[in-house]
Amino acid sequence: MHVVNAGAAAIPALGLGTWQAKGDACQRACEHALSVGYRHIDTAQLYRTETPVGEALRQSPVPRDEVFVTTKVWRDVLEPMAATTSIENSLRALGTHIDLLLVHWPDPAVPLQATLDAMARFVDRGEVRHLGVSNFPSALVRRAAAHAPIVCNQVEYHPYLAQTAVLQTCRELGIAVAAYCPLAQGQVVDDPVLTEIGQTHGKTAAQVALAWLVQQPGVVALPKSTNPGRIEQNADLGGMVLSPEQMERIGTLARGLRLVDPPRFAIPWDA
Ligand code: A2P
Repeated sequence: MHVVNAGAAAIPALGLGTWQAKGDACQRACEHALSVGYRHIDTAQLYRTETPVGEALRQSPVPRDEVFVTTKVWRDVLEPMAATTSIENSLRALGTHIDLLLVHWPDPAVPLQATLDAMARFVDRGEVRHLGVSNFPSALVRRAAAHAPIVCNQVEYHPYLAQTAVLQTCRELGIAVAAYCPLAQGQVVDDPVLTEIGQTHGKTAAQVALAWLVQQPGVVALPKSTNPGRIEQNADLGGMVLSPEQMERIGTLARGLRLVDPPRFAIPWDA
């Protein structure tokens, strides 16, 4: 699988999502993913998966430096002192450096620059390699990028949610877009158009959705699974090149389906 270059970062285009994976199951999923070629694991303090991810990294024969680990600072701890404690806890739970550290969710009540400055101190100390954001609409991405060399905005992105504005802004700024819920939490896996396109390549609808994402410049996909077969399936995209017509046809499936939008964290999403 190729890497997405953004700023100084080389981000493997396919990563394993770990939201809602639990303890041992998460560790097993990560170890299996590493054994079948994944080189990027996405975790977050909120998910409580940093400890099993760290354990999987230690158990796996894959050298740590060949794996890219992303984690996030939760919205409740964006004040600089709280963020610092949170990042220290993440480093302890993972037991290793963090390749990419994201602001998990914006909070307009906390000055963004102060949070980014607190995060940047860990880059200076060599414990974090790169900074980024998550769930940031275009205007906030611009604000973050004006203050810090962010390399990634992780957002919900799948064939049923277009994300046109975020993609355009991030491309313009040279920032990668990492797609969480790339299978729309499983909703795209029976899509008739994806299934039909998959039949022309001998692949499943899920694989077509993932190929559509990672074939776009600057886009990373983070499918979640704890099932060994599906973990393998999601990494087995080799040899499938979607034609420009197929890419465009999948682009027409968008229907504004936003699955992650908690009302209490209301975000001024791009239209
Ligand atoms: P499971 O963990 O049992 O494999 P998303 O990444 O968009 O959030 O989607 C994750 C959901 O889709 C999970 O319920 C996961 O279940 C399921 N899933 C992951 N990969 C596949 C696949 N290749 N085919 C069908 N379902 C999948």
